[in-house]
Amino acid sequence: MCWGDLVSGRPSWLVTGIGELVADPDLAPLTDAALVVEAGRVAWVGPASSAPATDEATDVGGRAVIPGFVDSHSHLVFAGERSAEFAARMAGQSYAAGGIRTTVAATRAASDEQLTAHVARHVGEMRRQGTTTVEIKSGYGLSLADEARSLAVARQFTEHTTFLGAHVVPAEYADDPAGYVDLVTGPMLAAAAPHARWIDAFCEVGAFDVDQARTVLEAGARAGLSGRLHANQLTAGGGVQLACELGLIAVDHCTYLGTADVDALASSGTIATLLPGVEFSTRHPYPNAKELLAAGVRIAIASDCNPGSCYTSSMPFCLALAVREMGLTPAQALRAATRGGAEALGLSDVGHLEVGAKAHLVVLDAPSYVHLAYRPGVPLVAEVLG
Ligand code: NIG
Ligand code: FE
Repeated sequence: MCWGDLVSGRPSWLVTGIGELVADPDLAPLTDAALVVEAGRVAWVGPASSAPATDEATDVGGRAVIPGFVDSHSHLVFAGERSAEFAARMAGQSYAAGGIRTTVAATRAASDEQLTAHVARHVGEMRRQGTTTVEIKSGYGLSLADEARSLAVARQFTEHTTFLGAHVVPAEYADDPAGYVDLVTGPMLAAAAPHARWIDAFCEVGAFDVDQARTVLEAGARAGLSGRLHANQLTAGGGVQLACELGLIAVDHCTYLGTADVDALASSGTIATLLPGVEFSTRHPYPNAKELLAAGVRIAIASDCNPGSCYTSSMPFCLALAVREMGLTPAQALRAATRGGAEALGLSDVGHLEVGAKAHLVVLDAPSYVHLAYRPGVPLVAEVLG
């Protein structure tokens, strides 16, 4: 029997021969473990020797099983690519928010079918690398119609969609940024809200300032959208503290943090979503995740897959970077990429494999999850369920 047969809904199915099982990413992994799946949920976890009888069984041959990754931050609805911009950065140029407008032009020129096929390709790429839950933002349309259709496209792939009309001021509003904020918080929000669960803004020099971001997030809240924020990516601005003051579930990037930012994160409980692929791809310094954890800050790791600041869809790559460059242990990084991501999306039944969780299982071609960081760049994801 192949893995695909098992997905298609046997009444009860035992996965046995698990050399190392990460059921609860907050605890040490279980060895010689087994797990029972019923109706798409984890129904039992324990030692293989005491596994209950089931209709079907699969032996994974001593390999490691982990929860599917929860990628809580991506920008997959776009067209075109910006490899020349990346090459210029690697030759010494710096990253600037304005590059987003290049992708806006390409996205507006693409058909719905082209955008849908493009998202499908990237979601498939993510899945083959172990991601089973993904958040997708708009933000490369920046007109009422293009933002609404971007979200409608994203919704075909995930319920975790985010309206990012406040990504950057588009060229046609260059002389009237206040007019653009009015559009985002008025008619564009009304068109986007039916397709979105979240609202986001890029709070940064060259994008939106703290007051504009606050206006956008407050309008989103009135329309029933929960807020999240891009902040402190390129400069130590006031975005992180705004997110904490508003009690947002997550604030993303957090590359440049001062003591007051760390204190605000720790006391608010707002999750700092770290995006190590961005630092890799822009040559900005990596934030120190080890120090954030020590200060009591909750963290998640996500890909931020986008054509400008970080064009990787690989959570294993991000996890390896977080270990090597942000000071996390492999266990802390795995937790941040699974349960941490789930928490950043307000989800309790993904990001772990305890009883009751969705059966989003990833089998690694490795005896331990540690290999995700120990063997960076190696395609270790053997099977993905869920
Ligand atoms: O998360 N920071 C803002 N938005 C994206 C980058 C977008 C782009 O460069 O196209 C990010 O890094
Ligand atoms: Fe982003």
